[in-house]
Amino acid sequence: LSVRPVAGPGGGPVLVAHRGASGYAPENTLAGIDKAREMGVRWVENDVQRTKDGVLVVVHDTTLARTTDAEEVFPDRSPWNVRDFTFREITRLDAGSWFGPRYRGAKVPTLDQFLERMSRQRLNLLLELKAPELYPGIERETLTALRRAGWLDRSHVRNRLVVQSFGADAVRRVHQLRPDVKTGFLGTPAQAELPAYAAFADQINPTHSAVTASYVDAVQALKGPHGKPLEVYTWTVNDAATARRVNDAGVDGVITNFPDVVKDAIG
Ligand code: G3P
Ligand code: CA
Repeated sequence: LSVRPVAGPGGGPVLVAHRGASGYAPENTLAGIDKAREMGVRWVENDVQRTKDGVLVVVHDTTLARTTDAEEVFPDRSPWNVRDFTFREITRLDAGSWFGPRYRGAKVPTLDQFLERMSRQRLNLLLELKAPELYPGIERETLTALRRAGWLDRSHVRNRLVVQSFGADAVRRVHQLRPDVKTGFLGTPAQAELPAYAAFADQINPTHSAVTASYVDAVQALKGPHGKPLEVYTWTVNDAATARRVNDAGVDGVITNFPDVVKDAIG
């Protein structure tokens, strides 16, 4: 399961382990970070949401049902929305067994815990604000957590961090609050609208089926808020044929559950 470390400038697209190396370890857990590191990947993507009592946690779905045992532990709490649970309640949940017995006992991490492990493993972070419309103020809170953990230090904002979201307002807000932080918009704006996005986003990150060479060219022809060409990181690329196609289209980054498959295809 080992891949050559880092692609990137001059060496093909940057590989990003989606929700951690989520093909091999439960998504958005510390084990997923460790697995990404073990596989030689340099970038990890995650998803941030907020509990009822205001704790930032790393979890993808807006409910706890799929990736934890919340239905068993709290049978009366349908539909198990993340935002309806306190962090103390979430600590009772198992976020690993659904993936496999060896991950039994894995926890939904706080953002602070996630950042600490990312630092320890010397990994770079593509952080997604998930469903920001459900969590007013999460842009500022996330930036505060990042700052406290050292992730807004100059070297980090230059080289090690991108904050992305499907919510354009959230991306714009992050840019307003911390113009030095690189940002990404998840989606495929019409080409005529790209200049408006270039005012606040350094990356335009489409689903792989929307990637064409002409779209990638149109994005990369623009300069982002930091004066550099806009980049395209595409998701979620899990097979060799798709990896070759998006690579041929000229993308800057490939977000994948299976970094080894992508690396073998285009490395
Ligand atoms: O990083 C891109 C990708 O994570 C967006 O989709 O649903 O996996 O968060 P999703
Ligand atoms: Ca995500």
